[in-house]
Amino acid sequence: MKVLMLNGSWREKGCTYTALTIVADALKEEGVDSEIVFVGKDAVNGNINELIKSLKEKCAQSDGFVFGAPVYYASPSGEIQVVLDRLFGAAGDELRFKPAAVVTSARRAGTTSTLDVLAKYPTINQMPLVSSCYWPMVHGSAPEDVRKDEEGVAVMKTLGKNMAWLIKSIEAGKAAGVKQPEDVDKPQTNFIR
Ligand SMILES: Cc1cc2nc3c(=O)[nH]c(=O)nc-3n(C[C@H](O)[C@H](O)[C@H](O)COP(=O)(O)O)c2cc1C
Repeated sequence: MKVLMLNGSWREKGCTYTALTIVADALKEEGVDSEIVFVGKDAVNGNINELIKSLKEKCAQSDGFVFGAPVYYASPSGEIQVVLDRLFGAAGDELRFKPAAVVTSARRAGTTSTLDVLAKYPTINQMPLVSSCYWPMVHGSAPEDVRKDEEGVAVMKTLGKNMAWLIKSIEAGKAAGVKQPEDVDKPQTNFIR
């Protein structure tokens, strides 16, 4: 069992990364592997096609996902939005029916609007959204600030444990013969007139 996590900051080892490492440690305690992929650079330096191809392959091998991003101007970073816009177009099948969580990091404000945007991706693709004991955010400008955010740390730990529990529950359901829901015929209508 493996969880793929995306760090959508332009800083490879900053606050978002620190939050994701806390989730990773909690997953490990529950026997679930994880990988943190830094997408902030390749999202914007002309390598997006290669990045999406590689992520699509990783998605196929993963059982759960965490999409992490810092708050930039009260929204998710542009970097994560570029990646998720492209990834959900390219790898919808590899993502569907697998649990996902969203995580954000901010100095101060814009966290809930950021989480709302991030959660829009899994929730249009039939992915169970994993929650924690508070909205999944940490606060700080540097990794050491995040470590001092004791409530944020506990929220990340709980998120990792809840993700592990849901992945294991889905595996147990599959082993017991529970089938994925069948597709419903859905007309695609446009709101023109
Ligand atoms: C371009 C930019 C915009 C930012 N906008 C906000 C903001 O609206 N609200 C806020 O609290 N912090 C804001 N910040 C601070 C970061 O969200 C915060 O320091 C975050 O923890 C950084 O995470 P990282 O180290 O993973 O990049 C901004 C930072 C940058 C670089």
